[in-house]
Amino acid sequence: MRKPLVAGNWKMNGSRENAESLIAGIKEGLGVNAAVEAAICPPFVYLSEVGSRLSGSGIALGAQNVSQHGNGAYTGEISTSMLLDVGCKYVISGHSERRALYGEADSLVAEKVVAINAAGLKPILCVGELLKERESGKTEEVVARQLDVLLNSAEGLAALQNTVIAYEPVWAIGTGMTATPEQAQDVHAFIRQRIAAKDTALAQKVRILYGGSVKGNNASELFAKADIDGGLIGGASLQVEEFLAICRAVK
Ligand code: 13P
Repeated sequence: MRKPLVAGNWKMNGSRENAESLIAGIKEGLGVNAAVEAAICPPFVYLSEVGSRLSGSGIALGAQNVSQHGNGAYTGEISTSMLLDVGCKYVISGHSERRALYGEADSLVAEKVVAINAAGLKPILCVGELLKERESGKTEEVVARQLDVLLNSAEGLAALQNTVIAYEPVWAIGTGMTATPEQAQDVHAFIRQRIAAKDTALAQKVRILYGGSVKGNNASELFAKADIDGGLIGGASLQVEEFLAICRAVK
């Protein structure tokens, strides 16, 4: 059985004060919930403090990005060993905002996924198509390309053993235009089949999250789909009640 994961991606939002109240509210509301694994991915500068606050709660800590390089002369970058050092379990890689705004190509995203896994962290690999790609019938082609860069190399396939995949259609991110449960399920099933063609056991165990305007009031119908194993949550993860409602919506 795949244990559902609900991960909050705070993106470049928050403050120390607001992180404190958010974490307190989430910890109190979630309590001991064996049905779902929750994770919080705050900005780098808050990782240590949020990690301390999460300690003992069972809620995992994640980062939003990482360097593909080991420690060294890379001014402004953060390494996998630093993320391990501050208690991270997960690292998001290939978020569409990094791909679109910071020019992260499939090959760089794959390098990061391999480095994250090699460090003993778990990658959350984001894939997803632009609106114009969906409208021109290219959704599967785009998602396949983003996956194949890992599926087609031995070290990529090895890293995928410990990876969570997040399908985030770019047109659904921060727009309120959630994919319908059927649209999401179709792509999730496609991702699982594509992995199965290389490794059937991996396809069964890999968790595939949906991300893109997930809210408390649409999460349960998305999570009810066979191949949707939780969510990667942006805006709604900054509100205690919304995030809790999404965590409670897991099947
Ligand atoms: P929203 O939930 O704000 O649409 O963001 C989704 C996302 O990008 C999570 O990584």
